[in-house]
Amino acid sequence: MTMEAGDDVKIPHHVAIIMDGNGRWAAGRGLPRIKGHKAGSAVIEDIIDAAVKMGIKHLSLYAFSTENWRRPDAEVSVIMSLLRFYLRLHTSRFRNRGVRFHFLGELETMPESIKRDVVELEAATAGESKMVFHLAVNYGSRMELVKATQSCIKDGLKADEIDESAINSRLWTADVPDVDLLIRTSGELRISNFLLWQCAYAEFYFTDCHWPDFNQERFSDALESFASRERRFGRI
Ligand code: IPE
Ligand code: IPE
Ligand code: MG
Repeated sequence: MTMEAGDDVKIPHHVAIIMDGNGRWAAGRGLPRIKGHKAGSAVIEDIIDAAVKMGIKHLSLYAFSTENWRRPDAEVSVIMSLLRFYLRLHTSRFRNRGVRFHFLGELETMPESIKRDVVELEAATAGESKMVFHLAVNYGSRMELVKATQSCIKDGLKADEIDESAINSRLWTADVPDVDLLIRTSGELRISNFLLWQCAYAEFYFTDCHWPDFNQERFSDALESFASRERRFGRI
């Protein structure tokens, strides 16, 4: 079943997805891992379309973690090329769909050409307001929390002034609501340093499907599962 905006169901404000399984998808077809990354990057557009249609306001996709630099140079370089390609190709598609692009992660240490493309894309889509698409690259939740804490100290906050909102407003997700639904593809039951703070009360949805096989219908299944859950936030 495909859900539509306006259906009488609970729609999460913020959906985050750990796009895992590109390598295994490729291995299963006797292909090199990079083919998996290519196939995986093509799925992103369909999921953005579905999310906009559903009325989701924030969609965060985990594309490259701070730990993924530990992979072989050749694989990292293919992923960076795909990212470059993606940032340049999709400017008008974001605008046509009313989607604002946001780079979620440590941008400073990224290669110069990517930095430029990110700044351009963020500026070009800054006026869009249907949905914010957060692409998590060079993202690590622990790094984000360490930086937020350092920033509190640099800003001269005293110990008793460091509260949840002081930290929240210094995260890369400042002004973004907490994650309501976290999806992970490809069967691993872990969070891998993604949005640890922001997922404090997220609902989790795991599927064995590898990311390149994920599609709008499977996304809909996850949203249906979310809609059927009772969230309590500590209350009875
Ligand atoms: C996810 O797929 C993409 C990245 C982490 C960049 P993987 O590359 O982790 O695929 P598996 O987990 O090895 O199958
Ligand atoms: C998490 O996947 C990171 C991304 C999907 C970008 P990994 O494949 O890197 O996670 P682990 O190493 O299996 O935990
Ligand atoms: Mg993986």
